[in-house]
Amino acid sequence: MPVIPAVPAWGELKQATVLFADIVSSTEQIADLDAEQAMERLGPALALMCESIEKFSGTVVRTMGDGVMALFGAPKALEGHALLACEAALDMQQAFKGDSLGFRIRVGLHSGQVASDPQQADGRGGGAHGLTIHLASRVVGLAEPGGICATESCYALLRSSGDVRFMGKHLLKGISGHTGIYALVGLKAASTNRLTQQGSLTPFLGRTGEMDVLKQALLLTERGQARAVGISGEPGAGKSRLCHEFTQWCRSHSIPVFEVRAQPYGHAMPLQPGLSLLRTFFFRITPADDGAAARARITARLAQLGPPSEADLALLYDFLGVAEAGSALLPGLNPKLRHARLLSLVRELVKHDAATTSVILIEDLHWLDEASEEFVATLVEAAAATQTMVVLNFRPSYRLPWAQFDNFQKVELDQLSGSEIEHLVRSLIGPREELREMCRLVVKRSGGNPFFAEELVRSLADGGFLAEEADLSAEALQAIERSLPPTVQAVIGARLDRLGEPEKTLLQMCAIIGKEIPLAVLEHMASPLASVIEKGLDGLCHADLILPQPAVGGRRFAFRHPLIQEVAYSTQLKVRRGPLHCAVALAMEVYYRDQLDEYAALIAYHYESAGQHVDAAHHSSRAAQWVGATNSALAIKHWHKVRSLLQGQARSARADSLRVRAGGQIAVLGWREGLVLQEVQPFIDEAKALAGEMDGRLMQLLLMAEGRMLQASGGPADGYVDLLRQAQFLMEPGADPGREAMINAALSQAYAWAGLLEQALAANTAAMQGMSAIDRFDREWIGFSVEHWVLGMRARLLTRLGRLGDAEECLQQLLVLGQSSNDPVIMQFAHFGYIDLAWCRQSASIAQEHYAHVEEIAAKHEGPYLRVFALSCRATTVSIAGDFVTAASTLTDALALVRGAKVAMEYETEILASLAECYRQLGQADRAVELGGEAIALARRRSTRLPECRALITSAAALLDKHGLIGVAQAKPLFAMAAELVRLTGATIYEESLQRECARIQTLGKPVEVSA
Ligand SMILES: Nc1ncnc2c1ncn2[C@@H]1O[C@H](COP(=O)(O)OP(=O)(O)OP(=O)(O)O)[C@@H](O)[C@H]1O
Ligand SMILES: [Mg+2]
Repeated sequence: MPVIPAVPAWGELKQATVLFADIVSSTEQIADLDAEQAMERLGPALALMCESIEKFSGTVVRTMGDGVMALFGAPKALEGHALLACEAALDMQQAFKGDSLGFRIRVGLHSGQVASDPQQADGRGGGAHGLTIHLASRVVGLAEPGGICATESCYALLRSSGDVRFMGKHLLKGISGHTGIYALVGLKAASTNRLTQQGSLTPFLGRTGEMDVLKQALLLTERGQARAVGISGEPGAGKSRLCHEFTQWCRSHSIPVFEVRAQPYGHAMPLQPGLSLLRTFFFRITPADDGAAARARITARLAQLGPPSEADLALLYDFLGVAEAGSALLPGLNPKLRHARLLSLVRELVKHDAATTSVILIEDLHWLDEASEEFVATLVEAAAATQTMVVLNFRPSYRLPWAQFDNFQKVELDQLSGSEIEHLVRSLIGPREELREMCRLVVKRSGGNPFFAEELVRSLADGGFLAEEADLSAEALQAIERSLPPTVQAVIGARLDRLGEPEKTLLQMCAIIGKEIPLAVLEHMASPLASVIEKGLDGLCHADLILPQPAVGGRRFAFRHPLIQEVAYSTQLKVRRGPLHCAVALAMEVYYRDQLDEYAALIAYHYESAGQHVDAAHHSSRAAQWVGATNSALAIKHWHKVRSLLQGQARSARADSLRVRAGGQIAVLGWREGLVLQEVQPFIDEAKALAGEMDGRLMQLLLMAEGRMLQASGGPADGYVDLLRQAQFLMEPGADPGREAMINAALSQAYAWAGLLEQALAANTAAMQGMSAIDRFDREWIGFSVEHWVLGMRARLLTRLGRLGDAEECLQQLLVLGQSSNDPVIMQFAHFGYIDLAWCRQSASIAQEHYAHVEEIAAKHEGPYLRVFALSCRATTVSIAGDFVTAASTLTDALALVRGAKVAMEYETEILASLAECYRQLGQADRAVELGGEAIALARRRSTRLPECRALITSAAALLDKHGLIGVAQAKPLFAMAAELVRLTGATIYEESLQRECARIQTLGKPVEVSA
């Protein structure tokens, strides 16, 4: 293949794309102006056009008063000139969308041969001639205002990257014959399949059985029984090619196809494929869409499911990185629930699309990160009864998480048969009879792997062994056979060894960057090679090692095949790779500056590979925070990664502060993930030791996390209170109102569990007063809405204090607030509170009404925590109605769930006390006494005084039920203890039942003195 010289001289013929752009009806707009005024008006518009051209490496050849002409591919040779010209055209139209001058422009594009002439230089690069230019100048007139027209020859170079509308064949002035014209609407997202960009493919051979399986699956899909087909095979066996042939077939039958690909550094880039699936397939967001356009698409799509909730919209905007700058934080939704909600939205969206058939292709699953894996699994499962077919491919090392899904089927791709591979090699080598033996050698060595075969042929061609004059004697062939590399990796390696400079160095740098190579990142790394970078990239493109990619926002390249990157990477010495990784990390920090959260994990990976562990930990923490918004389990892994990166690193303020945050966040998130205190205590302790030396504020949060964890693991509520008191002790009163409010909110919870209601209410009031001062860091640290939390606790407290009217007021507020939330716990909370209230008022109908809501929410969002909630609400509701049989069995279920799943352990004593009460009502006094005793003992260990009080009253009453007067001696001290607890806690709601049961003693015999 010819190598294009680096700095070609003018005065030669080159393949290029010509761009003409002009301002629509400019003559009318400047009719009343003199020449100077006209230039003043048009000048800025022309400057905008030139800016877009230069941004995509084009050369402005002429400006013409109200328009410009530019060349892509001349005088500078450019791979993918047509694509770059299209990008520039789209960029230009985008720029004019917001043009305050009120101009609209048209753009025309045509590709072909251009003669460029240095003698006519106009200061910007010289003149250019030829029919191509002439034709291009005619095309612009066909475009609508705001539109772009391209000729068929330009479109042919775009191949499947262009999103176009055919406008028919046109007769153009001065041009013989008709020219096909396309309106360019946009470019498809970075084409995920290199096969779609390759000019000529080898003929597609064999694979008829596999194609049949795919077509059969499509047939079922069209009938609403969608299938997912996974294609597994060795590297280079032809998985991507098979998928390419199938998806092309689909496209030719007007079935839309969406492609997503996992990347080699997938584990370091959590969620990328998941994000791209949401962006392209579900919301049809194109790379050209800005934030507002993307939000509009999301809103419109979601509206198809019903009126979209604010919370869902905020969640998606945030997740897809299109939230308005400065928009409010998400209303309280913890990561676990956010993640669950995203997955359930995926489910709903897939299911909703029942009426159209489409195909989603997910490439290279073996690189898929865990978080995306869940997205894909959800998609595959939810697609079952729809018309969305999912095609996946992966290498055999990949372990399939959804092999058990009924709608999934796996296809193992063997190597091609002897005759097929021979056919392939023949088509590559050519029909010369003398090469028959050479062909046999390649067929044999390739073992039927088409990629290996292709690379072997390429390597023979490079070595001159396929030339007319090559020596094909038996000895020569024997020597060739011996020299043929034994594996596909070796053949690629040999080819890379033969590369000259700067190609080899550039390719190695590219391999470090990843499968996709943004030019800006490469330029940053390769600054010493700046003058030869274009030449080097051209060389690599011509050697078919990398390919230019369509991409809005800057040029980029991709490896032609993943194996090339893998070999180019693994053959570099580690010591050499280190500094390059560091350079990539630095360049990426600049290049992805607007998406740093999304790319933090990848940047961390490069720093780690460069041996810069503190920088790596810093970016990992950023990734943890980002991913933690939707996936706490994954965030915990990232925080562990932060810790392990810092192990053995010298102490420094930066490293220590990362260590503290990592330990603290493991505890905070761990509670949600069902970890118990013992598991996270070492991390908390380590973090506390460091925080103690460096930052008292962090210490407060660590104490709070430790306390919550203690409570959630079944520890004493008083312990939770103590830890928060310690945190308070570290604060200077009045100096930090936001933080004080946070600690008070937690204290309100801790006191409430401890049953110290007045103290709890006081802390709650203090929290409410300071709430607006709580900063973003603290809100992110706890991860859910403080407002909901505080109000919900307040309602429960007031109920227990017997202030039912005040409680109801809080609940009304909470119900309104809850509507703006996606968080099912928050949504349930208000109803839960109403049921509590209904219990106090013994109103079966109110309880029933709110229980229906609770059940609905629990059914919609799975999860053991919500189930426990729902079960206790049910028990309360039915017991108000007098159905203690159902209440007892429901509570038994709740108890089993709490003990089995170790969730909602803080409710265990309450459930036990209620169960004892149920048995008493059912006349099973023995069982009531037994369970009451269990509840009392447990409640004492956990210092949960309210359930203890309730269990004391129930146990004592059950003793009287059973033994009458004889039971009095045993019951009396229990009543006395209950009375003492009512006094201590302020739980007036138990006062009445206590008085009533005590009064029974009088009817049995001697009266008892009770002071409450
Ligand atoms: N059936 C076929 N007929 C002709 N050529 C094929 C066939 N299958 C694959 N090839 C060619 O072999 C090369 C490798 O194929 P492909 O990229 O599909 O491999 P792969 O299995 O996806 O590899 P990887 O696991 O590395 O992604 C491509 O150039 C492709 O065109
Ligand atoms: Mg592949």
